[in-house]
Amino acid sequence: MRYIWLVLFSLAATPFTSLATLLTSRWGDMQSKHAWESIPENWEILSQPPAGSTIDLRIALKPLNENALVEALYKVSSPNHPKHVSLYRSYLSQDQIAELVTPHSDTLELVTSWLKHYGIPTSSVSMTHSGSWLKVTGVPVSLANELLGASYQFYRHVETNDIILRTMNYSLPEVLQDHVATVVPTTYFGLPRKLRETPHIPGGVVPRGMTGRDNGNNSYITPSYLSTLYNSSGYVPNATAKNALGISAYDGYSPSPTDLRMFMGEFFRNGTNASYTVVLVNGGTYNPSQPSDQEDLNVQYAASLTYPTPVIFYSTGGQAPFKSDSSTQTNTNDPYLDWLEYMLDQPNITQTVTSGYAGDEQAVPFDYAKRVCILFAQLGMRGVSLIFPSGNGAIGGFNNGNCMANDGSGKVRFLPTFPASCPWVTTVGGTIGESPEVAANVSGGGFSDFFERPSYQSSAVSAFLKNLGEQYNGLYNATGRGFPDVAAQYYNYATILNGTAVLSDGASGAATSFASMISLLNDFLLSRNEPPLGFLNPWLYGHGQAGLNDITSGSNPGCNTSGFSAIVGWDAVSGLGTPNFGTLQQILTNGPKIKPAE
Ligand SMILES: *[C@@H]1O[C@H](CO)[C@@H](O)[C@H](O)[C@H]1NC(C)=O
Ligand SMILES: *[C@@H]1O[C@H](CO)[C@@H](O)[C@H](O)[C@H]1NC(C)=O
Ligand SMILES: *[C@@H]1O[C@H](CO)[C@@H](O)[C@H](O)[C@H]1NC(C)=O
Ligand SMILES: *[C@@H]1O[C@H](CO)[C@@H](O)[C@H](O)[C@H]1NC(C)=O
Ligand SMILES: *[C@@H]1O[C@H](CO)[C@@H](O)[C@H](O)[C@H]1NC(C)=O
Ligand SMILES: *[C@@H]1O[C@H](CO)[C@@H](O)[C@H](O)[C@H]1NC(C)=O
Ligand SMILES: *[C@@H]1O[C@H](CO)[C@@H](O)[C@H](O)[C@H]1NC(C)=O
Ligand SMILES: *[C@@H]1O[C@H](CO)[C@@H](O)[C@H](O)[C@H]1NC(C)=O
Ligand SMILES: *[C@@H]1O[C@H](CO)[C@@H](O)[C@H](O)[C@H]1NC(C)=O
Ligand SMILES: *[C@@H]1O[C@H](CO)[C@@H](O)[C@H](O)[C@H]1NC(C)=O
Ligand SMILES: *[C@@H]1O[C@H](CO)[C@@H](O)[C@H](O)[C@H]1NC(C)=O
Repeated sequence: MRYIWLVLFSLAATPFTSLATLLTSRWGDMQSKHAWESIPENWEILSQPPAGSTIDLRIALKPLNENALVEALYKVSSPNHPKHVSLYRSYLSQDQIAELVTPHSDTLELVTSWLKHYGIPTSSVSMTHSGSWLKVTGVPVSLANELLGASYQFYRHVETNDIILRTMNYSLPEVLQDHVATVVPTTYFGLPRKLRETPHIPGGVVPRGMTGRDNGNNSYITPSYLSTLYNSSGYVPNATAKNALGISAYDGYSPSPTDLRMFMGEFFRNGTNASYTVVLVNGGTYNPSQPSDQEDLNVQYAASLTYPTPVIFYSTGGQAPFKSDSSTQTNTNDPYLDWLEYMLDQPNITQTVTSGYAGDEQAVPFDYAKRVCILFAQLGMRGVSLIFPSGNGAIGGFNNGNCMANDGSGKVRFLPTFPASCPWVTTVGGTIGESPEVAANVSGGGFSDFFERPSYQSSAVSAFLKNLGEQYNGLYNATGRGFPDVAAQYYNYATILNGTAVLSDGASGAATSFASMISLLNDFLLSRNEPPLGFLNPWLYGHGQAGLNDITSGSNPGCNTSGFSAIVGWDAVSGLGTPNFGTLQQILTNGPKIKPAE
């Protein structure tokens, strides 16, 4: 048998010559892995890829021990782990993570012989993401169609004109179903989407030289207003040689250093020489002369609230604009995977990272979402705090979603947001006003349909659901991960955009404000020679909660309901509340001093 295989293989030694038509074999018994009922919302079919087009495929391998990574994540991020107190904040190296996520040797062997069977040379296969994924470069699209029982086409986004190469469905041989978690790009009609910001000019202009907020009327937000509100104003960062705050963006949206300088001149004079470092990942672009509202806001608040902490702006390649004249162009980037691959390869990792990109969870294939989420957990294992916005469409979904399940049922549903729904990241909702801060009515919040409720939030979420009662039964998944985890100010961030002062609203502003407070806490820990906070949630839902201002009023109405209400304790609109930096710092001071691993 083996002999015959070898003979057939050498007959077809020309790379990429498919044998599928010659063989009926275990590879021929295909089972559907994922299929959409209809073309995902806002995408339309454009054309067949030209003959000769190639695609890079990424294959997620199931780990030997599916739970090992999450168990290890709990050990390093739970201050009160019943058995592993001494492991708290002792992060893992790349090699240690590789051991945790390693696939079974049978898995590698099977997948390799499957690829070989289709004539894919081993030289085009490499391991990524600490060995948990394989990358197969330069596969002819026609062969990918055969390999995956797929039908790759170009699709165009009707609003952004992005062009992507995807398939409505794909399959895997039955024998691989237990070994391969997902293949990318296939049915994720990705690109994480930028949250819509709404820059507007308040009755003319923002007064120049204003360093505080506007006379107690809460008409707009500035860095000094936020650092007073969140009690960080006396803190001077000291670990700036080690600590950094990252902002991750896609699709070429860029901040402007000129806008940052002008912003500092207007709103944070101590920081007039502030800057940021740009890191381009996998074909990412940077266009500071065409600044984007969201990126300007994020960089301006990150740089001022944590000044002089270094700020790193990551721009990961999205889709190159489609050029009809370049017939073989097939940009098949997957922004999340590309960025995660880059980050996981860094020996010295950025301790706090925020990103204002998201989408509806239901638009993401389940298997893909699971694997991306577990890669976020890998970053947590390295000591990174990942902070995402909960969305700005209240309970109706991302960017004012339409409350409609996309399973063909036509049912009304509250729509959760991804990556907010991943239990291994920290999600930030929105607030408005002060004394008290109130939950913003646009604040995304709810329950995942993909991820079950993690143990760190089980009592907090149970209390909320008990209070909610049977209202909304069937509209959300009561066993799912609840989000957001925390909140921060949402509206009216004074921002300099392309040389003009504007006010910007946005979930990404809230996420940046929260991430900045965490970055300052990381500075405090690093300056005491302690490891950073890493994955935050077990701490936030435990000791850390005393350092959060509970938000107890406001709601996120949508889908013809009054939405979830903010109540005492955790709720699905403002989470556990907004940060009190000084108190959080005190909680860390009073906690056990933790020595970094050598
Ligand atoms: C897969 O999608 C194609 C359209 O791209 C369709 O013709 C085919 O019926 C689908 N197959 C399954 C199993 O859904
Ligand atoms: C603040 O509000 C008060 C009362 O509404 C108003 O009289 C005052 O002009 C406002 N101040 C500014 C700077 O808008
Ligand atoms: C600006 O710097 C001065 C001198 O270092 C300091 O006293 C002051 O508190 C700083 N202001 C702010 C808003 O950080
Ligand atoms: C920015 O200015 C401060 C003093 O205002 C100085 O200590 C610091 O070195 C300057 N940083 C850069 C990058 O020039
Ligand atoms: C930025 O401002 C310049 C003029 O200062 C203008 O030419 C350009 O179109 C503006 N860009 C955007 C994106 O608004
Ligand atoms: C990485 O961190 C180590 C230990 O803190 C340090 O010695 C080294 O200089 C850092 N390397 C870079 C490139 O920052
Ligand atoms: C949501 O809050 C904003 C800001 O307070 C307000 O302008 C808007 O009318 C509110 N929308 C709803 C539907 O309550
Ligand atoms: C509800 O969430 C669980 C995971 O918590 C999942 O297994 C189940 O399929 C979800 N139900 C629906 C209807 O989405
Ligand atoms: C900065 O941190 C060092 C230890 O790394 C400490 O000796 C020093 O006192 C700190 N400075 C301030 C102003 O906190
Ligand atoms: C809300 O109610 C209106 C009027 O009854 C209806 O037209 C609309 O479809 C409903 N929307 C949702 C999301 O249920
Ligand atoms: C702010 O933080 C300090 C500790 O730095 C704390 O003593 C104080 O109570 C906090 N202020 C408020 C209003 O919570």
